[in-house]
Amino acid sequence: MNKLAIVTGASKGIGFALANKLLSKGYTVIGTSRSGNISDISNSNFSALSLDLAGSASISSFVELIKNKTEEVGLLINNAGVGYDLDTMSPEEKSYDATFDINVKGTVFLTEGISKLMPSGSKIANISSVMGSISLCGSHDSVAYRMSKSALNMYTKILSDRLAGKVDVASIHPGWVRTTITESCLKHGRLTPGQSAERIVDYIEHQFKNGDYWDAERGVHLEW
Ligand SMILES: NC(=O)c1ccc[n+]([C@@H]2O[C@H](COP(=O)([O-])OP(=O)(O)OC[C@H]3O[C@@H](n4cnc5c(N)ncnc54)[C@H](OP(=O)(O)O)[C@@H]3O)[C@@H](O)[C@H]2O)c1
Repeated sequence: MNKLAIVTGASKGIGFALANKLLSKGYTVIGTSRSGNISDISNSNFSALSLDLAGSASISSFVELIKNKTEEVGLLINNAGVGYDLDTMSPEEKSYDATFDINVKGTVFLTEGISKLMPSGSKIANISSVMGSISLCGSHDSVAYRMSKSALNMYTKILSDRLAGKVDVASIHPGWVRTTITESCLKHGRLTPGQSAERIVDYIEHQFKNGDYWDAERGVHLEW
């Protein structure tokens, strides 16, 4: 696998830890944030680019920039995501739309653009959630968030079939991680972002399987 990686949403949380973990393993990393500024990572193998998954113009400009790179992308980690309705009980239209724009539509169209530029042997890791599992769902909170991750899982299935033999694609649950995505994660999450990133990168490097849905916290396959 080519060691040029894109990590979306690398300004904080799990994405920030993933970028650092990959850099420590000798990857060249392009990390994204909406501002295009990730000043907390100073490593000559790291560059930050602007990407707003809620805007198609931003996605197109980002794909154009990647197209013009001489080195080919071997790993795309679709990590950026929002959880505006996490811990709430009923859907609300504005946050529902924003959640789907970012977690589903933007992620899909970014991946459509980037995957065409990836050589054989590359990998696409979609950072999903166990909350996207239909068979494991036992609660009725976080409607848009859960549905967006189920939709992302469906994209993983579709893409893993379409790109089979060329690019491997999997969904990964990063665990319950202490980040600012929601207050309950920050207060009660079981893993630090660093611990989650370590497990995710280990899976990507040693166990990555096309069409898989993987729980990086427990190290087990998940039911769709
Ligand atoms: N934390 C958990 O326990 C947990 C559990 C299961 C799954 N996940 C998933 O793990 C991923 C990372 O979550 P996290 O907890 O690390 O969240 P986080 O700390 O809130 O970080 C989210 C990242 O997404 C970026 N982002 C937000 N809106 C964006 C947009 N419109 N376009 C592009 N990037 C955008 C943010 O960058 P800027 O704001 O700088 O643009 C930030 O870097 C998400 O997909 C989340 O659903 C997390």
